[in-house]
Amino acid sequence: MPRFPRSASHLAGIPPSVYSGLAHRLERYSGETYPLHVGDTWMEPPAGCRMEDLRVADFPGMHRYAPVHGLPALLDAIVERERAKTGLALERDHVLVAAGATGGLGAVAGALLEPGDEVLILAPYWPLIEGIVRSFHGTPVAVPVDFDAASAADLVGRLEARHSARTAALYFSTPNNPSGRVLPRKWVEAMVEWARSRDLWILSDEVYEPFIFAGEHTRALPLAPERTFLAQTFSKCYGMAGNRCGYMVGPAAVMAELRKVATHTFYSTPTAAQLAAVRALAGPGDAWAAAACASYAATGRAAAERLGVPAPQGSTFLFFDVAAHLDARGLGPLLEACVDRGLLIAPGPSFGPFPTHVRLCYTAVEPARALRGVEVLAQVLAQFPAR
Ligand SMILES: Cc1ncc(COP(=O)(O)O)c(C=O)c1O
Repeated sequence: MPRFPRSASHLAGIPPSVYSGLAHRLERYSGETYPLHVGDTWMEPPAGCRMEDLRVADFPGMHRYAPVHGLPALLDAIVERERAKTGLALERDHVLVAAGATGGLGAVAGALLEPGDEVLILAPYWPLIEGIVRSFHGTPVAVPVDFDAASAADLVGRLEARHSARTAALYFSTPNNPSGRVLPRKWVEAMVEWARSRDLWILSDEVYEPFIFAGEHTRALPLAPERTFLAQTFSKCYGMAGNRCGYMVGPAAVMAELRKVATHTFYSTPTAAQLAAVRALAGPGDAWAAAACASYAATGRAAAERLGVPAPQGSTFLFFDVAAHLDARGLGPLLEACVDRGLLIAPGPSFGPFPTHVRLCYTAVEPARALRGVEVLAQVLAQFPAR
């Protein structure tokens, strides 16, 4: 059937703007702005690991294509790092260097999903996972969980209730974007066990692992290495989001399939970005991440205190219910009032079925400015609902 002028219908469910439909309005604002809607960091990458530190004289060929799989030096550094963390006998074949965790998770979706396959997504969730699943013809199925009140048994019951004959995989992130919660070990173990009992793949997104302020990180990969894909990224741990470099670790046989998808979507990960990642892993990266963690924790705590919500346990976000401040018009007027005072925050529905929640990233601009943005939010909330 002729397609022109229609485009593919499976993309219709993906919103054109994920984090804020109001970003354009901020351009008209002349005062100090607080773009806290996107997850990013104000910190520059570790000294010595920035683009300005890479020279052709030191790295001849740094503007050429990298191998699809990843630069050998980076693959080896990742293997060493993940072996130490997981205790698994990992090799280069278990790793794919990707155009961010976004590119890596896309390669997983492309490698695993048949059209119409369902992916269970623990909600609230990182919004792009929904669009990634849809882009590769899968169907995202949100599994809403109250991270403050749930138990492992409750969690498994919710997964079970949404499981169908089409379910192919389970996705979750810990430390969690957007909730700032670190999933308890019992939860991760219960989800992994349940996924095994249902023959599902597991997509374990652990990109905020370096930023844990309370609680303990639980890795899914060592619990079920035969079915788990770990998503990691240099965007978060070393403040290199613009470099577009991350990686996946998973079962070797399927990683070969991931490489096929990667080859035919982004081909290879930017060479210079990989060189910067090698430098960070070999040198100042961990000290940088520890300093970032301390700074993020302090800002997150101060922001939470001002807003009267629980302090974050990890990641770089606060996600909370503002229902008490809304009338029948929902979030719209509140978000608009924020933009009119220079503040952008993200609406709850981007993260699953949360019509009265908002998310803010308290690391997107330097701490003092982020806290001025939080103050704006506190003042706007105090005026809502407008009468
Ligand atoms: C939970 C989560 N996973 C993955 C990513 C993607 O990171 P990258 O920049 O490596 O694509 C993000 C980015 O914000 C994220 O929050």
